[in-house]
Amino acid sequence: MSKPVILDESIEVDRPLEEVFAYVSEFSHIEQWDPAVASAEKLTAGPPGVGSEYRIDMKAGFSLHYRVVEFAPGRNMRMEVDSRLFTAREEIQFEEVASGATRVRYIAEFEFGGLMSAVTGLYPRAMDKVGKSAMAGLQAALEDEFESPRPSAGIALADKLIVPGVWRFSRLGYRVSRKQWHPVSASLRGRHVLITGATSGIGLACARELAAMGARLTLVARDEAKCEGVIESLARDTGNTDIALELCDMAQVAQVHALCDRLLGADEPLDVLINNAGALFNPRQVTDEGFEKSFALLLLGPYVLTERLHPLLAAAGDARVINVSSGGMYSQKIQVEDLQFEKGNYSGSVAYARAKRALVILTEEWAQRWQEDGIAVNAMHPGWADTPGVRSALPGFYKLTRQILRSPEEGADTIVWLAAATEAGDVSGEFWLDREPHPTHVLPHTRETEQERASLLQQLEALLQSTDSYLKVAANG
Ligand SMILES: NC(=O)c1ccc[n+]([C@@H]2O[C@H](COP(=O)([O-])OP(=O)(O)OC[C@H]3O[C@@H](n4cnc5c(N)ncnc54)[C@H](OP(=O)(O)O)[C@@H]3O)[C@@H](O)[C@H]2O)c1
Repeated sequence: MSKPVILDESIEVDRPLEEVFAYVSEFSHIEQWDPAVASAEKLTAGPPGVGSEYRIDMKAGFSLHYRVVEFAPGRNMRMEVDSRLFTAREEIQFEEVASGATRVRYIAEFEFGGLMSAVTGLYPRAMDKVGKSAMAGLQAALEDEFESPRPSAGIALADKLIVPGVWRFSRLGYRVSRKQWHPVSASLRGRHVLITGATSGIGLACARELAAMGARLTLVARDEAKCEGVIESLARDTGNTDIALELCDMAQVAQVHALCDRLLGADEPLDVLINNAGALFNPRQVTDEGFEKSFALLLLGPYVLTERLHPLLAAAGDARVINVSSGGMYSQKIQVEDLQFEKGNYSGSVAYARAKRALVILTEEWAQRWQEDGIAVNAMHPGWADTPGVRSALPGFYKLTRQILRSPEEGADTIVWLAAATEAGDVSGEFWLDREPHPTHVLPHTRETEQERASLLQQLEALLQSTDSYLKVAANG
């Protein structure tokens, strides 16, 4: 056994101690900031603390097993590390050096056995270099000064050629894209995020990540018992108990108005609104309020919710709206003469794609209209993700593609990024996949005219007004 190798590196950043500790102490984030790490996985449930364990796969081809043995919030964490090459004891210390500035000190003592002891004896500087580059990565992550991604001609061309664009919907597309991503160390503590459809699939994965980042969450759900179960599991997994439930069937416009009345009555600024709830309906269905269900759930519901919550978004000062659309919208144009698919042979997929197309148009309109309120409005699509919704609504598609589907977390990643990343607050009116802006049209026949766009907006506005006043009349007897 050779002498232990000791690393002792410090960085200082202009970030509050609490934010720095929250980011670094969730040790799976190491994959975002240490360039030597290929991936990191938390092996234990619950928020980080004594007993938390992590598996870290290194790009050099070996794995490390970390166990947290001491955890003092805002002060330090100690970890024991095991691998086939070495064992180590690591400590990360945190100290406020001035108001809003924090020092992070990393001390590690490595013990190498066998052949490796000779190698480390020969190359102490190599170890030093690895430690320094990890700390430089952490510094960049915490300084958080990344540029927002801009539309690229290469992506636009790939999308237009269809096949080179469509493979990106798969989990392979996700894995290729993520190699370019920057860390997200922004804190969501104190930020109010409302998400629809968080009881399953992509919305649930998104809520879990946002809860772990400390957001104050409002989950809008139609099934009270299911949502309460979700809130319990999120609290258990993340330690975040600041999660509220709002009951609302998003396909019932009366319920959406009632939800808006409650939220406006509470008058709490809204930092992030995520319109995620969705489903695909076959055969054609009509709600008891008389609306075709795809239109009601995917378009009218989010339209009324977003329009009416504008005062709460404006009050936040730098709010973000994220509309979850679908790659399926590339195939369709809006049909302003037939928004509810009353003509022709109904197809659930077409109705779904038309509504998702309209949601992207709304995104562009709101982004322009609300620019002066500091509200960033973006649409995204999650690619193809393995969720309960896809399994039940598209069994044939699921059977064919199951090997290449992403996980719900991978599908949710861009929503979380749009909600949290500092640089994502600088862009508005774009359509995203895997943190990259994509064109909204790849086929010429899907483009709407100015008149069609105006007609869509007029029809939705008229429905908002008529359903609201109808409700008020009904409520007043
Ligand atoms: N998965 C994909 O590959 C994919 C691809 C493109 C776009 N998307 C979009 O991603 C979003 C999430 O889909 P997902 O795949 O995660 O589906 P999912 O697993 O079926 O989850 C859908 C969520 O929406 C909720 N929801 C459905 N109808 C609702 C209603 N009337 N009122 C309130 N909530 C309602 C569901 O609540 P319950 O739990 O009560 O059912 C659930 O929480 C949808 O907008 C979908 O169109 C998904």
